[in-house]
Amino acid sequence: MAAIMPIRDPIFDPPFNVVRASHVELGVRDLGRARAFYVDCLGLLPSDETKDALYLRGIEERNHHSIVLRRSREPEARALGYKLAGEEDLDRAAFWFSRRNLPTSFPERPYQGRTLCTADPLGMPLDLYTQMDRGESMLQRYASHLGARIQRIDHLNCFTPDVQVSYDFYRELGFRLTEYTETDGDDPRLWAVWMHRKGNVHDLAFTNGIGPRLHHVGLWTSSVLDIIHICDVMATCGYLDNMERGPGRHGISNAFFLYVRDPDGHRIELFTSDYLTVDPDHAPIRWSLTDPRRQTLWGHPAPTSWFNEGTAFAGLAPRQPALEARPIVAM
Ligand SMILES: [Fe+2]
Repeated sequence: MAAIMPIRDPIFDPPFNVVRASHVELGVRDLGRARAFYVDCLGLLPSDETKDALYLRGIEERNHHSIVLRRSREPEARALGYKLAGEEDLDRAAFWFSRRNLPTSFPERPYQGRTLCTADPLGMPLDLYTQMDRGESMLQRYASHLGARIQRIDHLNCFTPDVQVSYDFYRELGFRLTEYTETDGDDPRLWAVWMHRKGNVHDLAFTNGIGPRLHHVGLWTSSVLDIIHICDVMATCGYLDNMERGPGRHGISNAFFLYVRDPDGHRIELFTSDYLTVDPDHAPIRWSLTDPRRQTLWGHPAPTSWFNEGTAFAGLAPRQPALEARPIVAM
């Protein structure tokens, strides 16, 4: 019997128009420690602070926030936010999710317009919205560019217990595949996928693993030197142990990267220099799970923690992955 091809053609007329990955809300145990890390070290700009929450954005972002840190008993991920093109897309999205018996509600979200709170088939919580309060661009206020000089949120990366199910669902919503990792052999299985809406390598990526869990939030810096600089800063201001992997260059996406862990263990990737993917006939790149250059072009394997540790979503018990294939890890 012929093997089922795990990759399908992209969809150019999705049921509603997702513009891009927009924001994430994370539960943290100590807002003061989190502020020291995200603002004083990494250089994100605080848009607002209350006794229970800290709203952050990058220097080119007009949106009020791209990271919301909320006081929490345990570290957790609370929602992955996507911006839609218009209010009518929000209505179409609510109709589409309800027809698939997925949850739909419109709770109040500070600084955001109407926000559809829903979930994907594996339970990952999604916040879909169109309007957010706008802030002044800080792009040419160079004196306020500190730390890694983070420009904007770039992507969300999650563990999923079933990469094929996650890929099929987001493909239907118009997310287009740019790169993917497969197992070898006559019956290849998807091990990881990178999918975009905004025209670079990804807004959303999935890796096989215990999930659903948030693996990391990718934040864009304008240059490789910003990433080198934050390595020097973290190594000399008490955050040496928070540097988990890198700096280096990914094979997948070609991006330069550094992975760091915040005081609650949430993983942040500082990321720059991937490439344009807007062409409708842009062909996805296949990587073998056994190719050492896919993780790091220069061949260095990732640490075991990078494959095993992630942030659980609030109220959602992760489960074992369907696929048992193992990547190359550092000993
Ligand atoms: Fe990433």
